[in-house]
Amino acid sequence: MRPNGIIIAIDGPAGVGKSTVGKLVAGRLGYSFISTGKMYRALAWKALESGLSLEDDEKLVALAGAVKWEFPRGSGPEADVSLDGRRLDLELSEERVSKASSGIARLAGVRLFMLGMQREAGVSGGVVMEGRDIGTNVFPDAELKVYLDASPEARAERRSGQLRAQGLEADYATILDFIIKRDAQDSGRVNNPLRKAEDAHYMDSTAMPRDRVVDAIVELYKVSHPG
Ligand code: C5P
Repeated sequence: MRPNGIIIAIDGPAGVGKSTVGKLVAGRLGYSFISTGKMYRALAWKALESGLSLEDDEKLVALAGAVKWEFPRGSGPEADVSLDGRRLDLELSEERVSKASSGIARLAGVRLFMLGMQREAGVSGGVVMEGRDIGTNVFPDAELKVYLDASPEARAERRSGQLRAQGLEADYATILDFIIKRDAQDSGRVNNPLRKAEDAHYMDSTAMPRDRVVDAIVELYKVSHPG
C-alpha cells in the first residue's frame, strides 16, 4: 500500500489529451497530477535557451542536474514545472520545444535522469502521471494503467484548437504531419518506446468526448479500488 493512494498511469501518443484528461481525473479524486512530457519539454527548452547540442546526452544530463526542478505537489491538479524558480508554461507548447523534447527523449542518460525524478515524484501514490512509458517503465507496478489513443487526424484537430485558444499559430496540415512524425520517433526509439503495457486498459478516444474518457477512468478506479 502506498501512503497517499494509488498510481494511475496514463500513456499514449502526442496530442491525445492525456494532460487534459489526467488533470480532470486527478481533480475528481483529489490526487496530484504530473505530466512527465513537461519534464522532457522543460529540459529541451533549457537546452535550446543555453544553445546546447540536443545530441549531447552527457551535457544534457549535466544541465538537468544543475537546475532546480520543482513540481508543486498536493496543490491541486494544475501542476506546472518550474526550473530555477521560473514557472514554465506557454513556452513549453512551442513547436521547436515539442520537436526538441522528442529528440532528447531518445537519449539513454536523459531518460535515466527523468526516471529518477519521476519515481521520486510518484512513489508515495495519490497521483495521476501521464507520459509515454509510465505503465511500462516508470511504474510497471502502477495499480491502474490506461493507454489513451485516438486517430492522428482527431489529435491534430484538437491540438490546433488548443494552440489557437492559447493565441498561438496553428496550421492543421503541418500539425498532422508533425504528430505523425513525433509518433514514429516516440514509438520507434530504442529506449523505452511508446507502447501499451500489457495490463493497461486501452481507450480509443477518437469519437469520445473528453468528459466520457474522464468518467471511464474514474469508473475503472472505483471498480478496482472500492471504498
Ligand atoms: O507528452 P508531451 O507531448 O508533452 O511529451 C513531449 C515528448 O517527451 C514526447 O514526444 C516524448 O518524446 C517525450 N516523452 C517521453 N516519455 C514520457 C513523456 C514524454 O519520451 N514519459
